[in-house]
Amino acid sequence: MAMAAILAAVYVLRYLLSPSGRRKSLNLPPGPRGWPVIGSLGALAGALQPHRVLAALAARHGPLMHLRLGSYHTVVASSVDTARLVLKTHDLAFADRPRTAAGEVTSYGYLGIVHTPCGAYWRMARKLCATELFSARRVDSFRRVREQEMRALVRGLQAEDEAVARSSRPLLREHPRRARGTAAAGSSSRRRICATDLVDVLLQLAEDTQTQESEASLPRDGVKAFIQDIIAGGTERSAVTIEWAISELLRHPEAMAAATDELDRVVGSGRWVAEHDLPELPYIDAVVKETLRLHPVGPLLVPHHARQDTVVAGYDVPAGAPVLVNAWAIARDQASWPDAPDTFRPDWFLGASVDVRGAHFELLPFGSGRRICPAYDLAMKPVAGGVANLVHGFAWRLPDGVAPEDVSMEDHVGLSTRRKVPLVAVAEPRLLAHLYAATE
Ligand code: HEM
Repeated sequence: MAMAAILAAVYVLRYLLSPSGRRKSLNLPPGPRGWPVIGSLGALAGALQPHRVLAALAARHGPLMHLRLGSYHTVVASSVDTARLVLKTHDLAFADRPRTAAGEVTSYGYLGIVHTPCGAYWRMARKLCATELFSARRVDSFRRVREQEMRALVRGLQAEDEAVARSSRPLLREHPRRARGTAAAGSSSRRRICATDLVDVLLQLAEDTQTQESEASLPRDGVKAFIQDIIAGGTERSAVTIEWAISELLRHPEAMAAATDELDRVVGSGRWVAEHDLPELPYIDAVVKETLRLHPVGPLLVPHHARQDTVVAGYDVPAGAPVLVNAWAIARDQASWPDAPDTFRPDWFLGASVDVRGAHFELLPFGSGRRICPAYDLAMKPVAGGVANLVHGFAWRLPDGVAPEDVSMEDHVGLSTRRKVPLVAVAEPRLLAHLYAATE
């Protein structure tokens, strides 16, 4: 009898503590019912990419949607207003990341930045990003490296056999080599800014903070985890974005012509585009923003995680729930982008104040709030410079027999959301020959 009572009590407790039990007393956002045990996991495992499935579900259930993924409550924000609630109004409540085995293993036990829970260590990491790794001075100090890599990219492209239609993928896959120190005299802090690459900076910081209390110090494994985050964020994402931009320009010859005209006018045919030209190239800037609007490499950002029970727009979001922001759906929402929001139209951004730095919730390629990408300035330079130089230096065309509308724009979700099918295009040099040989 006593055993039966204990079992009954355990059962009732388990029921009350389980998501479905608690659900009775929670006012969860609307959402699909899902299947027993797996919830809505089946819908996300289909052929369609998750951001598209979630956008279709949100169209039915609403801009703040609840799903059960296995036994987890999951909440998805799919409109400007709900994204603002998640990333701004309740920023702190959702500033965590879900803990996953993969995140733990790849970040040496949450010692990087991306997967690290919101706490003292993460705050130290973000401070390092702002003051040491991605500060304006640091980003500027790598300008020469970016320019050298750009030269290497166009040289490589020019060296290809012009008769062969070629895939841009191997070319765009190239990424900055480790920046090499360029000796600088002066105070030690100045030496650290000017003379070192990011690996040196991190090793120095690890040494400097060795004696501090553990949460504010950077251990050796932290250095490795930081470098991994930087490589993952810093190489593929920029290359993938450049590839999307060239693909869209090939599909829209009028936009390619407008970009080329601007470059001819502002830069001229006697030299390559330099970073100081970029502020004078509003159309190139618009092409990059429009590419990031239609093809955000992180369409659902990086998942956030509710640190505490929170009421959002009158609905309960329970502590522990992963919270997703569907930046892809928001960037194609008719309410913000009227008339054909799926169409590539750089003109949206000409004379408009919308930027990508997290203040305009209709365009969130880098996220917003506490967890916003800390490197958006660093990322935008090679992307804008890459698009500008590839358009300036080459006349692009599709292989014979391929029409612009035939270029597949299917995406594939991986580390970044990239083209499913590599781009194949012909690039013919259009500047003076000696420019392609120059290394500086
Ligand atoms: C086109 C280029 C890039 C795009 C579109 C991009 C986008 C993003 C997005 C959407 C997030 C998540 C924001 C959120 O969770 O709300 C993020 C986070 C992050 N990105 Fe980037 N990123 C890019 C380039 C870079 C580069 C170049 C680096 C480093 C060198 C970098 C480092 C990071 C880090 C460390 C985080 C995690 C921040 C945190 O969790 O506190 N990203 N990025």
